[in-house]
Amino acid sequence: MTEPTVSATITVNGSAVTRRVPARQHLIDFLREELGLTGSHTGCEHGACGACTVRVEGRIVRGCLMLAAQADGRRVETIEGLSDSGELAELQEAFHRRNALQCGYCTPGMLIAAQDLVMRHPHAAREEIREHLSGNYCRCTGYQAIVDAIEDVLAARRRGGKKA
Ligand code: FES
Ligand code: FES
Repeated sequence: MTEPTVSATITVNGSAVTRRVPARQHLIDFLREELGLTGSHTGCEHGACGACTVRVEGRIVRGCLMLAAQADGRRVETIEGLSDSGELAELQEAFHRRNALQCGYCTPGMLIAAQDLVMRHPHAAREEIREHLSGNYCRCTGYQAIVDAIEDVLAARRRGGKKA
């Protein structure tokens, strides 16, 4: 039996795309396999690791827990779009400077989760940074440097400068 499909129009990184998608296809698989946006990763595929983090209507979501069909009519931003727009530039520079990535598998999800913190909790203390990232696993266990990098960006913003 062929799997049922539904029509979905999703604005991905500013461009509207319309496709018929398998009713049970997850958003992360749609982005990676249908659109070739492979910057967001799949890890656990059941909502635990955060590797698939993307933004939908300005909120971070697990791409493996949302169906592509549920994104119909919504705005989705991926690591590719957020990198190209320059929105993540400060965090990317800080991650680089602090050596906050090793294999890089977790990094796209970490950056999107970190940017969410930077936007919503600009005065977050170190423990709050840790708490905010608690749903993003780094299998290389680079947590210290990741938190250092985010702390740098928050501190630089509080000082009113662009650079950490
Ligand atoms: S792949 Fe989605 S949370 Fe792990
Ligand atoms: S840098 Fe390897 S998983 Fe985080």
